[in-house]
Amino acid sequence: MPGVRLPDGRFRAAGGRANFTDDGGGGAKVAISMSSAEGDEFRVLLDDVRFQQGGHAVFDGLSCGFPRGKITVVLGASGAGKSTLLRMIGGLTRPDSGRVLIAGQDITELSETELFSVRDRLGMLFQGGALLDSLTIFENVALPLREHTRLSDPDIADEVRRRLEAVGLPDVDDLLPGQLSGGMKRRAALARAVVTDPEIVLVDEPFSGLDPVNVRRIENVLVDLNRRLGITLIVTSHHIASTLRMAYRMLFLADGSAIYGLPDDLLKSSDLRVTEFLSAETQETWQPKSPTPPGLRLASRAPRGAA
Ligand SMILES: Nc1ncnc2c1ncn2[C@@H]1O[C@H](COP(=O)(O)OP(=O)(O)O)[C@@H](O)[C@H]1O
Ligand SMILES: [Mg+2]
Repeated sequence: MPGVRLPDGRFRAAGGRANFTDDGGGGAKVAISMSSAEGDEFRVLLDDVRFQQGGHAVFDGLSCGFPRGKITVVLGASGAGKSTLLRMIGGLTRPDSGRVLIAGQDITELSETELFSVRDRLGMLFQGGALLDSLTIFENVALPLREHTRLSDPDIADEVRRRLEAVGLPDVDDLLPGQLSGGMKRRAALARAVVTDPEIVLVDEPFSGLDPVNVRRIENVLVDLNRRLGITLIVTSHHIASTLRMAYRMLFLADGSAIYGLPDDLLKSSDLRVTEFLSAETQETWQPKSPTPPGLRLASRAPRGAA
């Protein structure tokens, strides 16, 4: 089975291996660029990735690409491997075999030390992406700058304010995470994930547990980060309405492999796994069974004891 199946055949995968074009580097570690027939340039690429966990193949020859400067949303049932995929791109999980290319560099060959410089290009926001409870919001966002740069305090202050304003949190510098609502905390965590100007940002389930208003806010922040800063965003989500609004491409993970395409392609897909997933999730999103959607109850709860 080919690694990537495309409804419109735009992305070809032959014999489970992606179709690479040599950048002309020539050496053993050739810089690889891969583009679709449409001209999408893939900034992140998985090539025939296999990965087992507890005797179960999470990825069974997965090949997929993530276009540079665009938003790709990764969908799939719980346990399909969405978080694992992000961890693999972030160099936190190594595949059993296959390649994971970031800007043409195969990170599966790198040592832990070498991985540091790759991670510098990445911003990661994982589920429950904890802000440190004992630090103010300002200090939380400043932390990556203090750790990774030699910026002066006034420069750090400027940068932090700029980021917090960009996510719509201009007045929370001195508050502790516990004093913010769930949606505000998530926006602050996003500000922290992008404060060092990463070119690729990985975001795991940014909408889970949020009410519709906060879903829209987070969505707008993500779209804005992408448009204004040209960040390549890879977002996992269950939220179909948001996904359809923000995704340039969608990647649906199932059975260790992936189906990739335009949001429209996936909506029109005749693959039973896709149609079942989309219809179930759409009902969940658009036809809440209880009068008060769970997200609203969650948001009105006192924001204490956060991660
Ligand atoms: N640390 C782990 N130990 C054992 N199994 C794991 C571990 N992490 C993930 N898995 C397994 O890998 C598969 C993919 O998990 P995950 O990436 O968390 O899925 P998703 O994010 O799509 O819900 C699941 O079958 C899960 O049980
Ligand atoms: Mg997950």
